[in-house]
Amino acid sequence: MRILGIETSCDETGVAIYDDEQGLLAHQLYSQIELHADYGGVVPELASRDHIRKTVPLIQAALKQAHLTPQQIDGVAYTAGPGLVGALLVGASIGRSLAYAWGVPAIAVHHMEGHLLAPMLETNPPDFPFVALLVSGGHTQLISVTGIGQYVLLGESIDDAAGEAFDKTAKLLGLDYPGGAKLSKLAEQGDSQRFHFPRPMTDRPGLQFSFSGLKTFSANTIHQYQDEQGQLDAQTKADIARAFEDALVDTLVIKSKRALELTGFNRLVIAGGVSANKTLRHRLEKLMKERKGQVYYPRIEFCTDNGAMIAYAGMIHLKQQTYQDLAIDVKPRWPLSEM
Ligand code: KG4
Ligand code: ZN
Repeated sequence: MRILGIETSCDETGVAIYDDEQGLLAHQLYSQIELHADYGGVVPELASRDHIRKTVPLIQAALKQAHLTPQQIDGVAYTAGPGLVGALLVGASIGRSLAYAWGVPAIAVHHMEGHLLAPMLETNPPDFPFVALLVSGGHTQLISVTGIGQYVLLGESIDDAAGEAFDKTAKLLGLDYPGGAKLSKLAEQGDSQRFHFPRPMTDRPGLQFSFSGLKTFSANTIHQYQDEQGQLDAQTKADIARAFEDALVDTLVIKSKRALELTGFNRLVIAGGVSANKTLRHRLEKLMKERKGQVYYPRIEFCTDNGAMIAYAGMIHLKQQTYQDLAIDVKPRWPLSEM
């Protein structure tokens, strides 16, 4: 069986074809980063219009890459939420229309379930149960996963998501949007001993996160060291990036450890854009080694938004017959626990 997957929830148009026997047959991605860079963030209307331009050509390219015709596709999966409503509607409308025309099921996929299952596309996929740390531009969540669709939210951010905090701090440091990966690169040159930033909400029990204070702490430190022209010297910039990354990563590690202790699970999955962060990966690998467990993550290109994870999640739902009837319905806000 083969599924076409379409992702259009934010600023990446992703299309992929997944075969339940042969694995991933095609994967196409178009990033709108350049389109939004001048505005310092995603402009929803521009995102929707660009998805309209790119989705159909990418579907054609994916079919060509997989040497398939539409008659050989058994289902169309698309991201139905959470995300930007206009952007979601593009993928939903195209996905449902194609499914109707091709006479195959259309499958609405939860974007975060896509991220959560992305490590299943790798050669050494995790078994259930596991703790998932989902860290993206819009979400920071710890989830107990005991099976497909068995998701219990253990904790989440009460304000900024981890990726959002990365991007906002990167912007304060004068880095282009989205600055997460750029900040992380800069942090490599930083001195970890120069500044110490707080590890928010780690001094009290629980699994909630809060990152907006960390961003404010970065802003205050930047203001303190700026010269009269508002400039920071290169080393101070790198040192602040390092202090910020260390604090954020440390907080994620502390809470992940708590979630593992609470559940008793010894597998940890990290997914979402911030799971591409090298420092986070190293720290969690070390943690799981100490706990004699294992950490799993997708390959770098499937950490951020992509069509492959949507095609994979769609395949699972098609096989389990857990998908909706024919209605174009998107959910800009969609708690994973309400699937
Ligand atoms: O999952 P994703 O592509 O989109 C959402 O669903 O939000 O995540 C994008 C986020 C952005 O905030 C981006 O800055 C962050 O992931 N990101 C990183 C890195 N690569 C991407 N943050 C820190 N370090 C990285 N290497
Ligand atoms: Zn995402």
